Amino acid sequence: MTEHVKRFDELTADELYRILQLRVDVFVVEQNCPYRELDDLDQRAVHVWLEDETGILAYLRVMDRGAESEYISVGRVVSARRGRGLGSRVLRLGIRAARQCFGDGPVYLEAQTQARGFYEKQGFRQISEEFMLDGIPHIRMLQEESSMPQTVLITGTGRPYALGFNLVRRYLEHGDTVFASIRRPSEALEKLRAEYPGRLHILTMDIASTESVNAAEAEAAAIAPSIDLIINNATTASADTMKELPDFDLDLIAPAVNVGAVGPIRVLKAFLPMLKKSESGALVVNISSEAGSIGKCYRTYYLDYGTEKAALNMLTMTMHNYFKNDPNLNIICLHPGWMRTNPDNHEAPLDPYEHAETLRLLFESRRHDPDGPVFITHTGEAYPW
Ligand SMILES: NC(=O)c1ccc[n+]([C@@H]2O[C@H](COP(=O)([O-])OP(=O)(O)OC[C@H]3O[C@@H](n4cnc5c(N)ncnc54)[C@H](OP(=O)(O)O)[C@@H]3O)[C@@H](O)[C@H]2O)c1
Repeated sequence: MTEHVKRFDELTADELYRILQLRVDVFVVEQNCPYRELDDLDQRAVHVWLEDETGILAYLRVMDRGAESEYISVGRVVSARRGRGLGSRVLRLGIRAARQCFGDGPVYLEAQTQARGFYEKQGFRQISEEFMLDGIPHIRMLQEESSMPQTVLITGTGRPYALGFNLVRRYLEHGDTVFASIRRPSEALEKLRAEYPGRLHILTMDIASTESVNAAEAEAAAIAPSIDLIINNATTASADTMKELPDFDLDLIAPAVNVGAVGPIRVLKAFLPMLKKSESGALVVNISSEAGSIGKCYRTYYLDYGTEKAALNMLTMTMHNYFKNDPNLNIICLHPGWMRTNPDNHEAPLDPYEHAETLRLLFESRRHDPDGPVFITHTGEAYPW
């Protein structure tokens, strides 16, 4: 899939024809709504779309202040196929393009009322009563979030069902540049890299090894000047993790702590010079677990996993204290909730791809909040240590 951003006079005749064809097919024919689709605003718009070998998959146009509204505006948002996240991806691409072409500021759109939930998930809020437009109920919405593209490092990203990979997808869809770290080659990640050339960089990094982490940092620093967000997602647990004391090999705890607790701090230490160069203010999120809460501990197993997460929480709080006077760096740890991160788990309530977007928005709200709770859940509430 390729991303396209073009002003009107840069469009080829064929591109313009296919854009208008999709818009007319959906807005006029499919919705059975005769209205003036060619409204003389296309000449002033920047046209944004996603395409693969089958044709245009999703499209929108963005316009500067004064064309449709006093704000930068987005309109004619259309997706040729539903249920593939194309709408949210083209919207993020459009907002990024709008800010690049027209500068920072709120982004306005008129949404069909039935699509309100979709736009709310992208950070828009309703600013008007419902009104009728061409016989269809609409509302006015505004997105005030300054979503300047950022550079993100996420560890443990090779498994397509798991959280790390889906966070990578969400940040890429949002228009960000991502360093995704893995220990071994990942076909799924390679496929994603082909979809986002230049914005997805795959790093090989074993977080149990200082040498490996430092080498990955040197590789990243040669590509990008700074990092705005680190998500320490990688973790480990031994094959004995569900066993109780008599059957558990205690020598498995130290290596687990080395990966799950020391690993994230190794990453923080190595990448600190890049974090310090962040212009937006940097955030480090250590993905912990309710299993790391000593106050809430009820289990008689997880001798390795529970211990490494409790140790990670302690290290996070210590680092939070250490960087407390640095206004440009905040550090938190998070219980992400129970997710369906492997194909055999049908019980967990949270879908990792859907949930990754909830977490992305939560992280943005915590970037400049050093006085907020340090150990939180995916709903943003404090969790007992
Ligand atoms: N799943 C849940 O419901 C749940 C609940 C609470 C907390 N969490 C936390 O959320 C995070 C993501 O969970 P998940 O279930 O998606 O995780 P996961 O599938 O177990 O993925 C963890 C990743 O860490 C990588 N990793 C392990 N050791 C490493 C090392 N030494 N260096 C670098 N990478 C290493 C693994 O790489 P390989 O693929 O090479 O093995 C794997 O890709 C974890 O921190 C987990 O503890 C998850």
